[in-house]
Amino acid sequence: MTTEQTAAHDAAVAEALAESSSEASLARTQARSTQIEAQIQTDPSQFRMLTGDRPTGNLHLGHYFGTLANRVALQDAGVETWVLVADYQVITDRDAVGEIGQRVLSLLADYLAIGLDPARTTIFTHSSVPALNQLMLPFLSLVTDSELRRNPTVKAEYEATGGRPMSGLLLTYPVHQAADILFCKANLVPVGKDQLPHLEQARVIARRFDERYGRAQADQPVFPAPEALLSPAPLLLGTDGQKMSKSKGNTIELGMDADTTAKLLKRAVTDSDRHITYDPEGRPAVSNLVLLAGLASGRDPHEIAAEIGDGGGGTLKRVVTEAVNEHFAPIRARRAELAADPGYLREVLAAGNARATEVADATLDEVRTAMGMAYL
Ligand code: TRP
Repeated sequence: MTTEQTAAHDAAVAEALAESSSEASLARTQARSTQIEAQIQTDPSQFRMLTGDRPTGNLHLGHYFGTLANRVALQDAGVETWVLVADYQVITDRDAVGEIGQRVLSLLADYLAIGLDPARTTIFTHSSVPALNQLMLPFLSLVTDSELRRNPTVKAEYEATGGRPMSGLLLTYPVHQAADILFCKANLVPVGKDQLPHLEQARVIARRFDERYGRAQADQPVFPAPEALLSPAPLLLGTDGQKMSKSKGNTIELGMDADTTAKLLKRAVTDSDRHITYDPEGRPAVSNLVLLAGLASGRDPHEIAAEIGDGGGGTLKRVVTEAVNEHFAPIRARRAELAADPGYLREVLAAGNARATEVADATLDEVRTAMGMAYL
């Protein structure tokens, strides 16, 4: 390609990356996710899934019903599962990591309490897997600053910092996230739609690595193209009927006890119509409580609303509190046991880190071979 062609090509790729969160692209990804869900039921062994969380705060019911429960379902369906505690992503947009050691163990307790099983799921941290982080260097050579600057998620996160200068890590963390996914050759990444640009970036990096450096073995690319799994997760609001957010104090955390849950739900916002219905558009706050009761009890929210009928907000709050406390009682009991045994949590993490390191080392060897840098 001439320089001009290369520039035009790069601009087109940057456009495609920016478009990965467009309506049309979202619809395609959703349709593809439905297909993948069906394939998982027939042959889970073709998939290796990886996803992760930043250890920045306690997990809450929104996380649970939005993504965590689905990870356990995938694990239980027989998909090889990898879950990353993305500690290096904490420092993309803040100067200090805070009580990071405590947060990591707390996240681990959440994971195990909800049913992620360390015998089937590898749980690990960025900072303990050197070869994963080293992949970032060749990967950085495969992207341009303009495509990173156009990443809609990076842009949104940058704007949220209120005009402070962007750190180099914030700009390039999508490349690091590509390393998270590609080091273990995951082909399935359950994410929310805000993460789709990062997934597209990982796909582009996998493809460009193959184009530029070729293959360690002649028959297949070093990195398979990962696909997003967008599950049709119900959108839970906070107890005030607004977007759920820790900073608004409207969340119920997995680690909270039954009394705290009851108190928070008692204060939840409802409306003046005593007749309870499930109408998320027209009555978001009331419907959100009905939905939460439905999710926690595995029942249809319409049915729950009909049963409460003219019982009003008081009955609704009693029903939702009971449903939530019943569903989470065993999870909370297990969580409390785990939290009291940090030695065990550290063992689980050490085993996960060792396994991730083994796989990352093997991938880095392939990368060195493909790049002609395997000197020894
Ligand atoms: N960026 C993700 C989030 O904020 C967390 C994450 C880090 C992740 N690495 C990942 C998700 C790899 C999926 C795959 O939620």
